[in-house]
Formats: sequence, C-alpha cells, structure tokens
Amino acid sequence: MSLIKKISSRFIQAKHSSNWPGLIEGYREWLPVNKNTPIITLKEGATPLIQVPSIQKVIGRGVKVFVKYDGLNPTGSFKDRGMTMAISKAKEEGCEAVICASTGNTSASAAAYAKRGGMKAFVLIPDGYVAQGKLAQALVYGAEVLAIKGNFDDALEIVQQMSNNYPITLVNSVNPYRIEGQKTAAFEIIDTLGEAPDWLCIPMGNAGNISAYWKGFEEYKNKGKSKKLPKMMGFQASGSAPLVFDKTINNPETIATAIRIGNPVNKVKAINAKEKSNGSFLDVTDEEIINAYKILGQEEGIFCEPASAASVAGLIKRAEEVPTNGTVVCVLTGNGLKDPDCAINNNNAVFHSGLESNIKTVANAIGF
Ligand code: F0G
Repeated sequence: MSLIKKISSRFIQAKHSSNWPGLIEGYREWLPVNKNTPIITLKEGATPLIQVPSIQKVIGRGVKVFVKYDGLNPTGSFKDRGMTMAISKAKEEGCEAVICASTGNTSASAAAYAKRGGMKAFVLIPDGYVAQGKLAQALVYGAEVLAIKGNFDDALEIVQQMSNNYPITLVNSVNPYRIEGQKTAAFEIIDTLGEAPDWLCIPMGNAGNISAYWKGFEEYKNKGKSKKLPKMMGFQASGSAPLVFDKTINNPETIATAIRIGNPVNKVKAINAKEKSNGSFLDVTDEEIINAYKILGQEEGIFCEPASAASVAGLIKRAEEVPTNGTVVCVLTGNGLKDPDCAINNNNAVFHSGLESNIKTVANAIGF
C-alpha cells in the first residue's frame, strides 16, 4: 500500500471512530477558518453511508443505492454541518446573538450551537407547523422561540430585516458559512465510495443543501479527488414545489413540514447546480413520500423524517432513468424521531393495545 493510501485509509478509519474531531477540524483545509477561529463543535459529520437493498430491488438493473444518513448528526439533521461553521465564524466576529427562520431543524441546530458558543439564539417558526421533536429541541437548548402567524417564507423575510437593522447574525442558509459547512457531506461521500455517485438525490426546501453538495462535489473534482460529478436530482413535495413549477407558491402545503417552503432563497444556486450537472427537479406527492418513508423504516430499519424520504420517493419515481449498474446516493437529511406524530399516524405495524396482563392473552394475540 502506498504511503498516501495508508494515510488516507487511516484518516477514513479515524473519521468513523471516537477520535473524529468534528467536520471543521476534519476538513480544515477546505474551509474558510484560520487560527483565530474558535471552533464551536458537537463533533458533527462523519455520518454513515448505508446501502439499501430494498430500494435497489425496486430500481433493479444492478443499480447500487446508498443513503447518507445525516439524521445521525448531534441535533438530528444536516443543519449541524452548516451550523458549526456559521456559529464558529459568528463567534470569531464577536457576535453575541444569532437569529433564524425555521421549519424546525435549523432552529434546533442554531439553538444548540449558539448555546455551546455562549451566544443567544432567537428562532422564528411558523406557528403550528413545526414537528414536536424539533420544537422540543429549540426549547431544551434554551433558544427564545417566536412562533409567527405566517409561513417559513414570511419568517425568513422578517429575520433578514432583523439582521440588517440590529446587531444580530443571521444563520439561515443565506449565510455563506452554512453552505461551506454543508458541502463536507459531499466530501464524505467521495471519501467513502472512492468516487462521486452517478446521481445525488436530495430533498429541496430553501435549496441551500443542494447548492452546498454541488459546491462540495465541484471542489473535490477540481482537486482531483474524484473523476466525475453526479447529476443533481432535487425533489420537492407536490404542494410545495416552487423550483419544480418555476413559480412562487404562496400557500405551500405538505406532510413534510421541513420543506414546506414556497419561495426558496437559494433558487438561483440550485438551478445552477441542476443545469451544470445535467440533473433535474421533480415533485413527489405526500403519498409517495410516505411510501418511501415506510419502506426505509420497515425494510431497512432506517427512521428518517418525511422530508428526507422525498429523496428516496423521487428516486423511485425516476427509476427508469437511472443508468444501469450506476451508483445513487439519497440524502436522508433528518432523523425520524423529530416527527413522532407522522410516525404514529403512518405505519403498517400491528399494535395490540389494552391487553390483559397475562401470558395467555399475549400468546393468543400473537397467534399461538
Ligand atoms: N430536509 C430537512 C429535514 C430539512 O429540515 C430541510 C430544511 C430540508 C430537507 C431542505 O433543505 O432548505 O437546504 O433545501 N429545513 C430548513 C429548516 C428550512 O428551517 O430547518 P434546504
């Protein structure tokens, strides 16, 4: 084994051990940090890439399908990748408070990292449209929560104005450091597979993550870490698909509340990623999302939130177009535990409730 190979295989091993230092230290030379940047980390990143045979079976033709399970980050979503960077840079600049609009995950992550960095976090959420687990996180991490009678797009407009008018740093994905941190997920995929996949399937809301992945794939390719670039396949929920239908949606609706966004702020970047990669955008219905969500849970033992399942639903919908023997990575952006209501209401499990407490009843119920 050559020295470089030895070093890189040791690096990959370290990434998956308890020695992983978090993504800023792990990918320091690829990120805009310097010796004065205080690193605010919860050891995010280094999430698993898991092969999913049940989805491969649906696609057929020798296609390999993996999921990038970013729901295993410290606060349960990919937002931690961006937040470690945004909060570290805010700290470096002497900021004392941060603000964001959120459908839930950004607020959970901002709250956790702000507290870890000794800062205050203010989070604006659409009242009644944030999954329970996410709201619980923001509260537990000690953010000040402002629930508005409006949707995510309304909240984002307010926080943008707030950060322009008051000494408070915006940590939504318009903050360029968010994109920098999130691009490391693309690095991890190439470090694990040894090459970029043929397709990258990803849910889109405000469209920061697809832009971040594209940046990561391009940077790695430019430095010779991969030979090819993936097609960027972005998916939105049918009731909330401004990028697919190329128009602002004033009243977005979907069971996948994380991506209930009608006017994505990173629209131009996302379209660029699609066009340069020869990829495409497509909408998936709530029914298709839930179907994929159930397959992942029941067949693979992988619990993601509904918005994340949109990536797998989209792949299934586009099955015929996947190159034969190709490799696909679907991004699972958030952990299923965040949205227990969706889980309880959407499963095919057998649940015997109110049983008498004796072996006869239990054996009988099981069918013995
Ligand atoms: N998946 C999940 C679980 C999300 O929480 C989000 C966005 C997305 C996908 C879409 O990512 O916006 O970069 O295109 N959630 C944001 C939030 C909007 O406030 O937590 P995107």
